[in-house]
Amino acid sequence: MLKNHNCGQLREKDTGQKVTLAGWVHRRRDHGGKVFIDLRDRDGVVQVVFNAQVSQEAYEVAGSLRSEYVIQVTGEVALRPKGTENPKLATGNIEVTATGTVILNPSKTPPFYINEDTEVEETLCLKNRYLYLRRPRMTDNLILRHRVIKFIRDFLDVKGFAEIETPCLIKSTPEGARDYLVPSRINPGKFYALPQSPQQLKQILMVAGFDKYFQIARCFRDEDLRADRQPEFTQLDLEMSFVEAVDILRLMEELFTSLVKAVKPGMRLPEPFPRLSYKEAMERYGTDKPDIRFGLEIKDMSDIAASTEFQVFRSALEDNGKVKGICVPGCGHYTRHQLDELIGFAKDCGARGLMTMAFTGESISLNEVKSAAAKYVTPGQLEEIAGRFGAKPGDLLLIVADRPGVVNKTLDELRREMAHRLSLADANLLGFAFVVDFPFLEWNEGEHRWEPMHHPFTAPRWEDTALLGREPAKVRGQHYDVVCNGSELGSGSIRIHNRQFQEEIFGLLGYSKEETESRFGGFLEALEYGAPPHGGIAIGLDRLVMLLARERSIREVIAFPKNQNAVDVMLDSPSYVDKRQLDELNIKLKHEVLHHNDKE
Ligand code: AMO
Repeated sequence: MLKNHNCGQLREKDTGQKVTLAGWVHRRRDHGGKVFIDLRDRDGVVQVVFNAQVSQEAYEVAGSLRSEYVIQVTGEVALRPKGTENPKLATGNIEVTATGTVILNPSKTPPFYINEDTEVEETLCLKNRYLYLRRPRMTDNLILRHRVIKFIRDFLDVKGFAEIETPCLIKSTPEGARDYLVPSRINPGKFYALPQSPQQLKQILMVAGFDKYFQIARCFRDEDLRADRQPEFTQLDLEMSFVEAVDILRLMEELFTSLVKAVKPGMRLPEPFPRLSYKEAMERYGTDKPDIRFGLEIKDMSDIAASTEFQVFRSALEDNGKVKGICVPGCGHYTRHQLDELIGFAKDCGARGLMTMAFTGESISLNEVKSAAAKYVTPGQLEEIAGRFGAKPGDLLLIVADRPGVVNKTLDELRREMAHRLSLADANLLGFAFVVDFPFLEWNEGEHRWEPMHHPFTAPRWEDTALLGREPAKVRGQHYDVVCNGSELGSGSIRIHNRQFQEEIFGLLGYSKEETESRFGGFLEALEYGAPPHGGIAIGLDRLVMLLARERSIREVIAFPKNQNAVDVMLDSPSYVDKRQLDELNIKLKHEVLHHNDKE
């Protein structure tokens, strides 16, 4: 090895040790006669002092060093002189007095700072990903990711789970996104689909008798990208036989609780995890992935609104809409400008508008409320509204009157926005919760058909199966979600394990007999050979690590993410391929695409 110690691991106990280190020049300060280098490796940073009086030669080399040069340093660990310790650094009580140094490789000047966590333009940070990953925050994030995966593997191993890999070249598995397709050279005209998840294969593993399976599985979905979505992502995928929903939830709760204690001891999580029904989550938070770390809960005031003379409320209600809102404590003093900004925010969420009601005075009264609705409500109605929200003088009500879906979406976003502005969420709290009792089906208005709320392999509540033909909207599913801090972390369900019933569900979802056979024939056949009752879950690993690392985007915990257009800008992928390769695959590009290709 070119080194015998790691920079970031040196401590006071190492004082007096002769060490050889190797790493990158993180920072250099020249104090005339002395050069200070912060030397960085994967474990952190240590200060190295090049003193002309200790080694003139090393001092001279140090003078020529620049940021990100790779160097080897020999020297002795010493306590820092009193008063020069740096409590922000784990190695801050010591320094290395250099007796020699060698430049292993110089570096071009990086296009952005590695030693400062300043914002970097996206393309630059993706193109020079290796430099961005050198930032200590990013290094820590990827090491955290490693620890999380290792913990999960060990935890599940002790619980008797077997990790089994499933292929990436498979047949389409519907999870609600488009497939990435791979043409087959040996089978002209035919395509593999990259898995959106290993759903069918893990169920087939249950039929094969592996009653506790898991996999750190790579999944591929061609869908619109957001901060918490990548075209290629990782799931902790898990399946068990002979289980009920509560068994999976119990296992997840134990896993997350022990994981957080092991990898993020400074963070807390609720014990036990709250369980919310889908209905309750929608009513209280307007979303099925609520952030439960703070209040600002949604209240329905449609009944009070109906009795007022306020046309905005009344016309929304006449259109089968709802009037709901949230109460933001202490924001009654918001200026016109601040309120207009919130109205703009609500409009961006799709709402026609936002009714604000600011209690500006010492009491709740019509004289001391600032609102366009004030003229149209009686003192009694005002009191009733304030009572519904538990509003106090000085508070601000944000009210949306619109179609139910718009009301929920807007208030969910407003709730999170206000919590962010007011720092209401405890950053050390992981707001884990389970959402249960989902409806089995969802009506797709545009396409006039039923869609599964989860995926077509999910079982309805067994006691509701009789309702499937008559009142499908009333059927409850055996589907559960794990949510945390406003993110859907994972989803799972108890599955259908009987061919006939699975076919019936495909039929209800609008698949023809032929389509069912061609898409799911192999899977359905497996269900005929003694498939055990089973269920499972998949946790979005990128999202989990993002929350543990307190990041706002999963890109910050993925080594090589794609950009918003699903492009790897570092290696330039996807890219055009030459005609010979396309010929081998029997693929002919459309004329327009070819033309574009030629121009590039
Ligand atoms: P689902 O489709 O809900 O369920 O996915 C499970 C979890 O995977 C994560 N996830 C994503 N993460 C990053 N980028 C994406 N594009 C992306 N899409 C999904 C989310 C999500 O909660 N087969 C079922 C699971 C099961 O029933 O066992 C499934 O894949 O965190």
